[in-house]
Amino acid sequence: MIKQVKDGILYFDGCNTLELAEKYGTPLYVMSETAIVEKCREIRNSFLQKYKKTRAAYASKAFLNLSMCKIIEREGLCIDVVSGGELYTAIKANFPPEKIEFNGNNKTIDEIELAVDYNIGRIIVDGLDELSLIESVCKQKGKKMNVLYRITPGVKSDSHDYIVTGKKDSKFGIPLDDEIIFPAIEQAIKSEYVNFMGFHYHVGSQLHDNASHLKALETSLKLIKDTKDKYSYVTPEINIGGGFGIKYTDADDKKPYSYFLDPMMERIEEFSKDLNIERPEVVIEPGRSIVGEAGITLYTVGTIKDIPGIRKYVSVDGGMTDNIRPALYQAKYEGVAANKVDEPKTDTVTICGKCCESGDVLIRDAEVAPLKRGDIFAIFSTGAYGYTMSSNYNKNPLPAVVLVKEGESRIVVKRQSYDDMIKNDLC
Ligand code: LLP
Repeated sequence: MIKQVKDGILYFDGCNTLELAEKYGTPLYVMSETAIVEKCREIRNSFLQKYKKTRAAYASKAFLNLSMCKIIEREGLCIDVVSGGELYTAIKANFPPEKIEFNGNNKTIDEIELAVDYNIGRIIVDGLDELSLIESVCKQKGKKMNVLYRITPGVKSDSHDYIVTGKKDSKFGIPLDDEIIFPAIEQAIKSEYVNFMGFHYHVGSQLHDNASHLKALETSLKLIKDTKDKYSYVTPEINIGGGFGIKYTDADDKKPYSYFLDPMMERIEEFSKDLNIERPEVVIEPGRSIVGEAGITLYTVGTIKDIPGIRKYVSVDGGMTDNIRPALYQAKYEGVAANKVDEPKTDTVTICGKCCESGDVLIRDAEVAPLKRGDIFAIFSTGAYGYTMSSNYNKNPLPAVVLVKEGESRIVVKRQSYDDMIKNDLC
């Protein structure tokens, strides 16, 4: 168990969270290496080893720094990046370039050049003119890159509107209208400068239902068939994206990877047999499901305001700057006073941050043991899209990130200082 309680104190991957808060300060992101590695192994067992010709590329937008790249490399996964900055981070961590896959709906020419210079494994082409840009860079540099087309499968997933990506009206992917997709496929197949590897889709994020994945798969399989019929080209690869949901609160009906992957693999096998082709290599891109539950954030309780008959606000020393998800997606979290885990939860409070925004609320109507200034409050499942979406709003410094493993802790990202925040300012 990653979370444990001893003498009323919360322990995380063997570490006393009060001691972590004392040693490294708050707010503090705490990531369990054990939990991350367990997830990677779950992917290995239920996908990579169970099915031949498969890859898993960790979607690094969920949580990225040099140490995370090292863990992902050690666990044998590939990495998915979506910007020059993510690509640069992976390269600086000596991540094998051939295991880097580059997504994104508006790659700049500089980013494409970086990807070509480093000979990365795949570029996932997301726009109609992007292939031509890649071709011109490859021509100039005498290179040939592996590419896939990200398609818009035209399915609507059941998640927050901001994190569904597969519906037809989307900035992501190439629309599947015949007059758009087929010339694009033909250009890629015939190109001297790219190897056309196949199709990619990502239907959305934080999904607990496999319906949209399965629907999008049918669309992609039809495209594979059409590509064979029209151009006698057997598509070598299909990337089915990420989106596998996690447990933020008890209401989340989290499913194992196999719930999503087994029916899809079965369908792809059956399809390949029917079409009499070798089954394409299947790639997944999980982000949140690898790191989400592996992280907690520790805060120190400050001002408490009890508005009689209305609400009690408990302010903590972080907020929307380290976790924008409640403000942006109305995301729900759970938490506990790390020094009072065993005390009865007799109070209902709103845990809010310290930013000048009324929407800076981390948990509404949290049931807690009575809190007072100086208590350490832990919020769970903050490992994905917390640190990577953090900001310096109100010039709040970004928290440190600590990696914990079986009772040991080490800092992997230093806390920002005030000087760090103004170091690029000129006057
Ligand atoms: N692959 C592609 C192409 C993606 O766009 C994404 C997420 C993933 C993989 C990984 O999805 P995951 O397994 O993490 O669900 N900031 C939002 C999530 C945005 C996700 C965008 N794309 C949030 O905090 O919920």
